[in-house]
Order: sequence, then structure tokens, then C-alpha cells
Amino acid sequence: MDIEEDIRALQLDSAEENNGAINPEDAQLEQVEEVDKMDEDSKPNTTVSSEEVQQAEAEVSHKEVRAPEVEEPSKEEVGNKKRHLNVVFIGHVDAGKSTTGGQILFLSGQVDDRTIQKYEKEAKDKSRESWYMAYIMDTNEEERLKGKTVEVGRAHFETETSRFTILDAPGHKSYVPNMISGASQADIGVLVISARKGEFETGYERGGQTREHVQLAKTLGVSKLLVVVNKMDDPTVNWSNERYAEIESKMVPFLKSSGYNVKKGIKFFWSTWILFDVVFLPISGLIGANIKTRMDKSICSWWTGPCLFEALDSIEVPPRDPNGPFRMPIIDKFKDMGTVVMGKVESGTVTEGDSLLVMPNKTHVKVVGVYIDDNKVRRAGPGENLRVRLSGIDDEDILAGFVLSSVAKPIFGVTEFVAQLQILELLDNAIFTAGYKAVLHIHSVVEECEITELIEQIDPKTRKAMKKRPLFVKNGAVVKCRIQVNSLICVELFSDFPQLGRFTLRTEGKTIAVGKVMKLPAVSA
Ligand code: GTP
Ligand code: MG
Repeated sequence: MDIEEDIRALQLDSAEENNGAINPEDAQLEQVEEVDKMDEDSKPNTTVSSEEVQQAEAEVSHKEVRAPEVEEPSKEEVGNKKRHLNVVFIGHVDAGKSTTGGQILFLSGQVDDRTIQKYEKEAKDKSRESWYMAYIMDTNEEERLKGKTVEVGRAHFETETSRFTILDAPGHKSYVPNMISGASQADIGVLVISARKGEFETGYERGGQTREHVQLAKTLGVSKLLVVVNKMDDPTVNWSNERYAEIESKMVPFLKSSGYNVKKGIKFFWSTWILFDVVFLPISGLIGANIKTRMDKSICSWWTGPCLFEALDSIEVPPRDPNGPFRMPIIDKFKDMGTVVMGKVESGTVTEGDSLLVMPNKTHVKVVGVYIDDNKVRRAGPGENLRVRLSGIDDEDILAGFVLSSVAKPIFGVTEFVAQLQILELLDNAIFTAGYKAVLHIHSVVEECEITELIEQIDPKTRKAMKKRPLFVKNGAVVKCRIQVNSLICVELFSDFPQLGRFTLRTEGKTIAVGKVMKLPAVSA
């Protein structure tokens, strides 16, 4: 078959997949969209990527959720006696992420009954009675009105052994760039699934965000997942063991195919829970069951596993190197007695007084203050979310995606790199060739990019090269290719710093591929 025939066959393939028929599942999704009354968000984006970049730049923002009663821990307490982990809450729209996040804050004593009553009244006034718990996380007016998270909510809580930052991602498909930004900072994911009749199905089907979020989370370095089967109290579920087992049995093969090591179950061993990459548990975010304390047998007699706090406590994540070269991708910046940058430390340690570089601009800066959750600390290590006050740079000279970096071993800026891509789902009739344009999301960078060369196609099973310089590839292919961007961006080899070397490609609001950086140009600048 010659190439043109090949291409035609490919186009036919994808045309046949759609077949002109309406997939009932898609139709269902559309209904959900209509109910959402968010039509303006679901308009197809016809121009190539740049709109998405702008949208992402405008939208990728976070809101700090502060409960009025929270007592800030003293400087000494922040001395890292407990480990710190970022937990991203992901899952399909309305699965109950914000409700569960809000319940966690309530149960850990950070929101009092009076505030809850106030939220109950406010929710009722907006005819959203059941949303009051979500109001703890959804703090802005638009979110409360529509009952949808838009910006990633951030809040903090502690268990016996750990300090956690919750990153409450939006589930709606219009806000996937915000979800990506949240997940790229996270160590662990809590995948919230609604057990309510029909809701699990809508989230799980093609086009549902349960699938997309899992694949994105894996690519973005979220190595452990707690799958919470939520809304178990709903009348259509009523704590049914069968429904729970059905959801678990459908999710397991999918999670496996997404690269998570799923071993069924969880073992209680030497007084701690041994967890695999993935752990399932039933909860009700709304009534707060199996979250802070073990399941009340009068509510659900069959569950003998851990509660959410226990599971979170026992999770072990790969250690980051406190002595490695300093790397902190910048997610946000502002002016406040100098320039303050925000981000998560991916490698190394920062101490007040350090000299660092802001890359890729190579600006020398001095660290004049380090803050964890607003508390000034002298030094901070990997895994911490920081605000770092800098001298020697104007906030206008910093963009999200820049990296605060060690001087001795800086991260470099590049305009191209070689990557290995896994193509997930191309848009209708599209073929993946040199010249393909997409939006690249890598750590906190959002940048338009172009595929300039397909180097080789790789057999997904054997992971060995199977075709040199293919002219095009289709859905499901694994391909090594060269990617180019217009301005310098900071990336690392996946093998050196996985968190800074894995990325996603999106076009017209859809994730079309996930990838890892395999090779950087010899002379980087
Ligand atoms: P997005 O941010 O838009 O993606 O949604 P979300 O996942 O944050 O869902 P949210 O917490 O806003 O909850 C959506 C709806 O589900 C609200 O009406 C909640 O009251 C309801 N809900 C959430 N958790 C539970 C639960 O455990 N049981 C029941 N019965 N309803 C729940
Ligand atoms: Mg939400």
C-alpha cells in the first residue's frame, strides 16, 4: 500500500469509528452539559491552540481556602516533624471532590458549625441545598452559583503522621488545564467516583473525565491513587456491596492499562496498612462516613478496610532528594516587598540568603524569605509548597513556568527536545505527522508547540523500535519525535527529574497525547 492509500485508510478508520451515529453515551454527556448551562464553555475551539494557551494562562490559578478558625501553626511547628504531601482531588464533574474536601476540613476541626449553618443557608438560597459542604472549598461566587469548581482550591489539614495540602481540581471538561496544573504539583491523587446510579457510568465512559483525569494524573507523576467510591449513602446505592464491587471491577483493568500497579486489596501488617499504588475505599463525603474514623458498622457492615485518613497516612511516596540541585517550577508570582514566587520544590533545599537563578532568563536572585503556608521558615526541602521572596528581579520579568534553580547546576532553557509520546486520542480524522500543532503542558509551563519530526515508531508491547521515520501514526501509537516551541522553556530529562520531564499535549480542549522528555539538545541555553 502506498502512503496516500495508507493515509486514506487511516481517515476511513476514524470516520468509521464515528459512523455518523450518535453514541448514546455522548448524548448523555451532552445532556449533562446542557443541565450545566455552561454552553459557552463547550463551544468548539476552532483556531489552533493559541486560544487554549491564553485560556490556560488566564485560568490556571489557585484559590487559597482559609477557614476563619484555623490557627496558624507556629514557626517551630512547621519544622517538618511531619512529612508534607500534596493531594490532588480528581474525578468527573459532580463526583463530590469539593464536598469531600470540605468534609475533611470540617472533620479536622477547621470549620465550625456556625460556618456550616451559614453555608447551608447560602446554598439553600441558591437552590443548591446539598452543596453546602462543597462551599468550604468552592469559595468564589461563580463556583457557588453553578455548583462547579473552576479554580483549584487549596487547603491544609493534618493527620497523625502527615501534613497535607488538598488541591481540589475542577471536574468539568472546560477546566482541564486547571486540573493539569493541580495534578502536576501533587504526590498523591484521590480519585473521587460517584456511585450514584448513572453517575459512575457517565464519568467512566469515553469522553468522561474519570478516564482523562486518571491518564493525566499518571503522566503528571501522581504515582499513588486512592480511589474513593463516593455517594455510597445515596438512595440509589444505599451502601450496596454489589455496586461497590461493580465499580471496583470496572476500574481495575482501566487503572492497570493507565500504568498503575493495581493489586486488589490492602493488608493490615505490623499495625500499619500496606498499600499498593491504588487503594479503593467506600465513603460518603456528604455525611462524612469512613473519612476520619473507620466505618460505622451500623451504616455499612461489610467494609473492614481503612478509612480515608488511615489510607492517606500509610501512603508512601518515593523520596525526593533534599541534596539534589534546587528546582522549583514557578506557578504564580506577585509583588510584596520585593517579588514573591510560588511553587513546589521538586528537588533540593532552599535556605534564606541563598543565591539562585530564575531560568530560563538566567537572572541572578537572592532569597530574602522562605514561607510555608505563610509561616516564615529558615529553610525548606523537597515536596514543600513555598512562597519565596526574592530580591534582584521584578515580578514582571517572571512568567508561570519559569524555574527557580540552583546556580551550580541550573536547569536549562530549550526550544526543542526529543520525546517519547503515547498518542491517546486524536481529533476526528486527524493524523499525527510532522507539522502537527498542539499545546504542551509540562510542570507549570503551557506553551504552543509543533511536532517537527517523527523519529521512530515504537511497538507498544515490546517497547522496541518498529519503524524508522514514519510519515504518520494513529491513535494508540507510541512514537519518538522532535518537539519545538517558540520561546525558551525549562524542561528536564524524564530519567533525571520525572516531575519536570513528563508532559501532556492537548488540542482543542482535548488531551491527545502524553509523553516524556528523552533527549535535550547538546548545547542548551
Ligand atoms: P466539580 O467541582 O464541578 O467537578 O464537582 P465536585 O466533584 O467538586 O462535586 P461537589 O462536591 O460540588 O458535589 C456535587 C454534588 O454531589 C452536590 O450536590 C453534592 O451534595 C453531591 N454529593 C457530593 N458528595 C456526596 C455524597 O457523599 N453523597 C451524596 N448523596 N451526595 C453527594
Ligand atoms: Mg468541586
